[in-house]
Amino acid sequence: MNHFELRGGELACEDVPLARIAEAVGTPVYVYSSATLERHYTVLRDALMGAGLGEPLIAFAVKANSNVAVLKTLANLGAGADVVSQGEVRRALAAGVPPERIVFSGVGKTAGEIEFALRSGVAEINVESEPELKLVDQVAQALGVRAKIAIRVNPDVEAGGHAKIATGKADNKFGVSFSEAERLYVNASNAAGLSPVGVACHIGSQITDLAPMEAAFTKMRGLVERLRAQGLAVERLDLGGGLGVPYFNMPTPPSPADYAAMIGRVMKGLDIAFAFEPGRVIAANAGVLVARVQHVNTRPEGRRFLVLDAAMNDLLRPAMYEAYHDIRPVRPRDGEPVTYDVVGPVCETGDTFTRDRALPPIEGGDLLAFMTAGAYGAAMASEYNSRLLVPEVLVKGDQFAVVRPRETYEDMLARERPAPWL
Ligand code: LLP
Repeated sequence: MNHFELRGGELACEDVPLARIAEAVGTPVYVYSSATLERHYTVLRDALMGAGLGEPLIAFAVKANSNVAVLKTLANLGAGADVVSQGEVRRALAAGVPPERIVFSGVGKTAGEIEFALRSGVAEINVESEPELKLVDQVAQALGVRAKIAIRVNPDVEAGGHAKIATGKADNKFGVSFSEAERLYVNASNAAGLSPVGVACHIGSQITDLAPMEAAFTKMRGLVERLRAQGLAVERLDLGGGLGVPYFNMPTPPSPADYAAMIGRVMKGLDIAFAFEPGRVIAANAGVLVARVQHVNTRPEGRRFLVLDAAMNDLLRPAMYEAYHDIRPVRPRDGEPVTYDVVGPVCETGDTFTRDRALPPIEGGDLLAFMTAGAYGAAMASEYNSRLLVPEVLVKGDQFAVVRPRETYEDMLARERPAPWL
């Protein structure tokens, strides 16, 4: 459920018409609904708690939506943060996420990033390989601290979904095998700079079938039990993110209640603190990208292109993953649906949001909303073609705030320097 609905014939975010935001801020612009973010977080938390998983750490995956105001909205409800870079640690801290609720994942953390995370007091560094374990140990010893770490395991399951976002197969770059995990856990418990607190996994994103998750989580439980049988303390089990969302024409994903019930079943009787790293399921349907139609270009042979002022640099998912986003006119016109190709102004054919999409009749100047764009939308935006980085707006009830203003051309050029010989 989300809070983007037609009100008096036009699409609104909570109590604010999207057209009003487009007028005030210009287009393209991302618009997020606080009520939807809050609802998604609360529904997931209640489902997990209702399934007997105690009071889990729900560390929002900052990569999905890294806007500080969005992070703060979630932090105010008690969310933690799953981060993958120093920049994300800084964003989480800036949003007021307590360091003891920050989990640091990622296969290539640098010594500098590890040092920053340890100095900040993050809850746990999820270690993804043996060389990384050694690096964390060295950095921690140099600082005179013990780094709390979890070993990220690659459970070797096929999660379905797009190959570019599957992370849980043995040939992906993420995590270590189960046998290696046991060895590394023992090594970590003997290392002067390390304090192993748990194990972690994350098998992929936009997962619409519980079976691969169940298989992975069952294996994770086995690992915890084997480690404990060796007398090792395992306090935390981090089950990652990955739960899919409905992108309109996709297979219906399992509900948070079904997801939680499955985990409750698999983990029954296991006394451990659970952590989760959800991104998409919280943020995707809490955001839209609003764009304006520049032209309707109808070719003599019949193909109709809607040329927008938004492009692949603003919303990369269709170009990168052939992703489907529902597209809705902000003020739908009456009439029979018409088939359009929806494209941006960037100079490559990949800058196509969709082909042959049936939409209500559209005219130049109309506003369109790309739905389900609150996760991996603005966070993946760039300035490709020297287009200004897209702004972001947060709505709460009848109020809205620009939480990232549109860059200016002066900002863009001021970041660069001439070489001394030029
Ligand atoms: N934890 C880890 C370690 C991850 O790598 C990810 C996502 C998450 C949590 C959050 O997963 P979620 O709950 O959002 O599925 N750009 C792609 C998605 C990449 C996901 C990468 N990892 C897209 O636009 O579909």
